[in-house]
This record gives sequence, C-alpha cells and structure tokens, in this order.
Amino acid sequence: MARYFITGIAGFIGSSLARALLASGHEVRGVDNLSCSDSSNLSDILSDIDFCQMDINETDRLCDFMRGVDFVLHEAALASVPRSINDPMSSHTANATGTLSVLMAAQTAGVSRVVYAASSSAYGDQEAHPKHESMCPAPLSPYAVQKLAGENYVKSFWAVHGLEGVCLRYFNVFGPGQAADSPYSGVIARFITDMLAGEQSTIFGDGFQSRDFTYVANVVSANLLACQAPREAVAGEVFNVGTGRSQTLNTLYATLARILDFQAAPTYKKMRAGDVFQSQADISRARSALGYSPTHTFEQGLEETVSWY
Ligand code: UD1
Repeated sequence: MARYFITGIAGFIGSSLARALLASGHEVRGVDNLSCSDSSNLSDILSDIDFCQMDINETDRLCDFMRGVDFVLHEAALASVPRSINDPMSSHTANATGTLSVLMAAQTAGVSRVVYAASSSAYGDQEAHPKHESMCPAPLSPYAVQKLAGENYVKSFWAVHGLEGVCLRYFNVFGPGQAADSPYSGVIARFITDMLAGEQSTIFGDGFQSRDFTYVANVVSANLLACQAPREAVAGEVFNVGTGRSQTLNTLYATLARILDFQAAPTYKKMRAGDVFQSQADISRARSALGYSPTHTFEQGLEETVSWY
C-alpha cells in the first residue's frame, strides 16, 4: 500500500487515477480548485479519499496537505490550446507556475517522486512521424510552451534537488467523465454530445489533421508504471503515452457517426490557430523503460466512452 497525492483530482484524468488506485488498495489524497471540473466526478469515491478544494498555487497549504505521501501525480491544468491563446496569463499561471508550485511543495514535503502530466503538444509540427522523445520540441501555442516549461521544471528539480520527476507526454486523452460543455472541451467529448443531442458538429480545418487518441485507462496504467519503475530508468526522463496509432478527424467523425447511427455531415470551419497537423506517438521508450503497453485501442476506448454517455 502506498500513499498517492493527485492534483486536479476532480478532473476526468485525476478522478480516473483515484478510482484505479483505490481499487488496488492504495491511500488517495488530492486537491482541485474546481475551476474547470465538477466535484460530481468524485461523488462515487468522495468518502474513500482525502479531498481538499485548493488551488495548486497555494504552495504552503499544498505542502502541508502533501506531507507523508509517497507519490504525487500532477494532473491539474487548464487543458486547452485555444484557451491558452485567448487567455495566456491565466493559463500560464495554472500550467507553468502551478507546476513550479507543486514541485516546491513536493520537495519541501519530502515526497519521493512526482509524475507530471506533460503534453504531446510540445512537439508542434515536425516533418518526422511518429513523434519520438529525442526530437527537439517545437511548441506552437502558449499551452504547449507552458506544458514544456513544466517538463523543464521537473527536470531541473531532479538535477538540483534530487526530487525524482517523471514526465509523461499524454497524446489526446479521452474517456468517461471528460467535460463536454465548454468550447474548450476535447473533440471526442464534443462530437459525442453533439451527436447524442442531434446537433451538427464542427470540424476546424479540412479534417485531415490526425491525433493519437488515447483512452484514459492507458494513461492510468502509464502513471502506475512510472511510480513503480526504478529511479535510474525514469528520473528526469520524458515518455510518450499514446497508442502508437493515429486517426484523422474525418475518420473519428465517421466512426462515431456509425457507432451512434448519426446521419448528418459535419460543418467545416477555418483551422484553429496553434493547431498541430499530425500527431502520433512513438511509444518504444515507454515500452522499454516503463513496461508500458496500451491496455485499450482507440476503438475499444471509443466504445467504452460512448456507452458511458
Ligand atoms: C492538444 C494536445 C493534447 C492536449 C490537449 C489539451 C496536440 C497534438 N495535442 O490537443 O495532447 O491534451 O491539447 O487540451 O497538441 N476540433 C474540431 N472540432 C471541435 C473541437 C476540436 O475539429 O469541436 C479539432 C481541433 O481543431 C484539433 C482536434 O480537433 O485539430 C483536436 O482538438 P482537441 O481535442 O481540442 O485537442 P488538441 O488541441 O489536439
């Protein structure tokens, strides 16, 4: 039994992690400022976790609440490329400054390891595919810059303070509990809720942009492995967490329309600023260092997600 601390625990990734850890008999503590998530995500587990509504930038309070834990899983973020373009400062405060605050709290509290939710957006658009961790980052949006800054803070706390930090670059995570009610929601949640409401969805661009859509159970498994792996293999390192395959938006739309028996075609609008064109993970490094292997394909994840709505 280990003690885990989750930032952003009311978000859909944070709450999925909490559920999996409780099921394995671990102790779970966590914080969320509930600015873009709903405590209803925690209703089934609230009595089994130690939860406090708190912003991650309240470093001293965070540190006090963190004392005694073994692992910190840092999921709290304002996760959206367009949001970071519309309001870069609040996005920076949550994503970059917030990560610094979590690391400072973890170091002072004597935590042994922090696993950080990094982002595939760090790669930007590059000629080579799939994206490998050895490629030089080329962030296109403020969001990508902020998430990359977080990675560099994690690496520097390992180098300077010996705080074990592991960066997991998530590739477009989706699954049950993902918010769908905001213009900043992930595309899968948006398309499913549009189709269920009988409304037309919008595709930004020509729909030929691709993503390595990764079911949340794969991300949960990568986090648990990142906590268990030997320090020499993972501290200060970056790992892609995806499936190793990608789908275009047009294929995603067609697959969901088939599953939900939805007839209407999407509306096409101008491509979004800061949008990456192609995104697919090379997961060989995570396979060899973490023993990671996707537990769910894109299609399996989609079936599970649709049946949740
Ligand atoms: C990016 C990151 C991802 C991160 C996420 C956080 C990349 C490759 N991925 O995701 O790792 O978790 O930010 O928010 O940078 N779209 C539509 N219609 C819609 C909504 C979106 O066509 O209604 C399009 C977008 O323009 C984009 C794709 O769908 O091309 C995916 O969008 P979204 O789900 O918002 O994620 P990314 O911005 O790709």
